[in-house]
Amino acid sequence: MSDDLPTEDLQEIASRFSSLLRILTHGNGGERPRKTRDMLIDRLRDALDRRLPQLPSENPAFIARSFLLEETVDRRARTEIGRLRHRDLGTLHALKTVPADRVADAVDRDLLLREARIGMALRHPCLVQTQMVLRLADGRPAIVMEWAGQPLSERLSSSLVSISAIIAGMRRLLRGLRAIHDTGYVHCDISPGNLLLPDDDFSGLKIADFGVALERGKRHRDLDIRITGTPSFMAPEQADDAAADPRNDLYCAGRVLSLLLERCQETGNDAEGLKALAGHLSASDASMRPASAGTALGLLDEAERNIARS
Ligand SMILES: Nc1ncnc2c1ncn2[C@@H]1O[C@H](COP(=O)(O)OP(=O)(O)O)[C@@H](O)[C@H]1O
Ligand SMILES: [Mg+2]
Repeated sequence: MSDDLPTEDLQEIASRFSSLLRILTHGNGGERPRKTRDMLIDRLRDALDRRLPQLPSENPAFIARSFLLEETVDRRARTEIGRLRHRDLGTLHALKTVPADRVADAVDRDLLLREARIGMALRHPCLVQTQMVLRLADGRPAIVMEWAGQPLSERLSSSLVSISAIIAGMRRLLRGLRAIHDTGYVHCDISPGNLLLPDDDFSGLKIADFGVALERGKRHRDLDIRITGTPSFMAPEQADDAAADPRNDLYCAGRVLSLLLERCQETGNDAEGLKALAGHLSASDASMRPASAGTALGLLDEAERNIARS
C-alpha cells in the first residue's frame, strides 16, 4: 500500500477500521452476523499470517479453524480428497472424507473410520502417515494425513523412469508392505493410484489408501466391503475373495514392477533381473511367489547387485 494516501482515504480507512473493530469485539447479534464476524476474524488472522502467501478465493473454506482447504484434488463416488494448508505451521496435509451428499450414509462413515483406525495403527516412513481424525462441521468424519505428492499413475503418464528410480521405488514399496504385514494387515489395493511420490522422488515413495485393507485371514465379504482392489493389479485369488494373505500384496507389487519396466527409459540386460523378479512376484499361484516382503527385498538387492556387476 502506498505511504502517501490522500487524507480523505486515510479517514475513510480509519472509520471502516473502527466499524470492523466494533463488529469483531461486540458483534451485533443473530446467526448471520456472527458467521460474518467469524469469517472476518479468520480473514484478519490470515492476512497477518505471513505463511499464507494469499487467500485463494473470495470465500475460503477452513477446516476445524486450523486448515485452509486449498483444493479438492480427487472426487469419487465414496471419497473426496482435499489439499490442506495448516494456517499456523504452513504445512501441507491431505484430507480424506466422504462426499457431502453421503453425509447420512452410515456404511460409508463407518468404512472411513475403519480406514482411519488402521492408518493410526500403521507407522512407517514408507507409509502415508495418518495424523488425526476430525469431524467436519456437517458431521462427516475426515482423515488428516501428511501430504505425499502426486500418485505414481500420474507420474508414469507424463514421463519415463530410470532403472535406479525403479529399484528405489520398489525398495520403498516392499519395505512399506513388510511393515503393514508385520502389523497383521494386508493392504489389498497396491496399485499406481495408491503409491505416492513426495517431491516426485521415487526414493521417497509412500503407500497410501488403507480403505480396503484387511486383517490377515479376513475376507472383504466378512466386512461388507464391496471394493476389493484395482482389477488389473488384483491377485487372482482376491477375485474369489480368498482369506487375506500378504502374498496378495506381493502379486500387486509384481504388477507395479512390470508397469515400471514398461515405462523404463533404459533398455538392455539391466532390466532382465528385474523382469524375472516381477514375474516371480506376480506368479498366478500364490505358493510360487516369494514367501514374504522381506524375502522379496532380498531378491531385489540381488537383482541390483547383478546390475552393478554387469
Ligand atoms: N496423503 C495424500 N497426499 C497426496 N495426495 C493424496 C493423498 N491421499 C490421497 N491422495 C490423492 O487422492 C487420490 C485418491 O485417494 P485414495 O486414498 O486412494 O482414495 P480412494 O479410497 O477413493 O481410492 C490418490 O490417488 C491421490 O491422488
Ligand atoms: Mg485409492
